[in-house]
Amino acid sequence: MKKNLDKIVDLEKYPIHDLQSPKIKKIIKKCKSELKNDSCSVIPNFILPNSLEVMRKELEQQLDEVYMSKESINAYLYAKDDLSLPKDHPKRIFMNRYNGYLNSDCFAEDSEMKFLYETEELLKFVSACLGISPIYRWADPLACHAYNVMEPDGILPWHFDSCEFTLSLMIQKPEQGGIFEYCPNIREPGNERFDEVRKVLDGDRSKVKQLELKPGDLQIFKGRFTMHRVTKIIGKTSRYMCIPAYVLDPWRVNTPEHSKAIYGKVLPIHIERNKARSDGLTD
Ligand SMILES: [Fe+2]
Repeated sequence: MKKNLDKIVDLEKYPIHDLQSPKIKKIIKKCKSELKNDSCSVIPNFILPNSLEVMRKELEQQLDEVYMSKESINAYLYAKDDLSLPKDHPKRIFMNRYNGYLNSDCFAEDSEMKFLYETEELLKFVSACLGISPIYRWADPLACHAYNVMEPDGILPWHFDSCEFTLSLMIQKPEQGGIFEYCPNIREPGNERFDEVRKVLDGDRSKVKQLELKPGDLQIFKGRFTMHRVTKIIGKTSRYMCIPAYVLDPWRVNTPEHSKAIYGKVLPIHIERNKARSDGLTD
């Protein structure tokens, strides 16, 4: 069956197919200012309830293909300790992690989420909200629009993303916990601010913000510069999200180490494109 954007996104409320409409211009203005000041913006009830149900079903049908990982990890998504650094360096702080992904290469050809990610309308809308153009869909075949599964007791510790811009689309909310916490713009290109990062890892809450998402909400945020985490899932219901991502570099993919630790495998593209980053930040 042919898919249509108007069956997925609430275009009445959010006419992303017509970026000149006064309605969407107003929303873009608000998102842009929130992203600038807070590195994060939420668009409530972006996905229509029927489409949300399609996404939930397509994920549930493939739950046995989800790569679950329990490996402890540092905020830079490395599992390996660097003994050459001082003991209190943030790169040497490892945190419990229990989290899974349905990799993007497992998605069915007629996947609702894949269709949405591949529409020009969504790309152009996100680009306008960020006030950055061009942005690109992520070339990483495993990570570009993965479903994220956090089962009961699941936890995603403090980390930075490899991609610059992350969307988080909530599919299913847990009974309790699973709260998104973030520290807006704690690092920037060329400036890691390890002292600030360490304070947060040591438990300082002064720069930590919380966000409660509801199913259907779309969150846009700058995950490469904003350290973030998801608190422990409490109760019997898993937390389901989709995490489509956009980048500034259409060529780059995850490092082989990241891909192995988070998505469970390394493809030839991860080895071929494993080059130093131009923003000088740890990846
Ligand atoms: Fe993340």
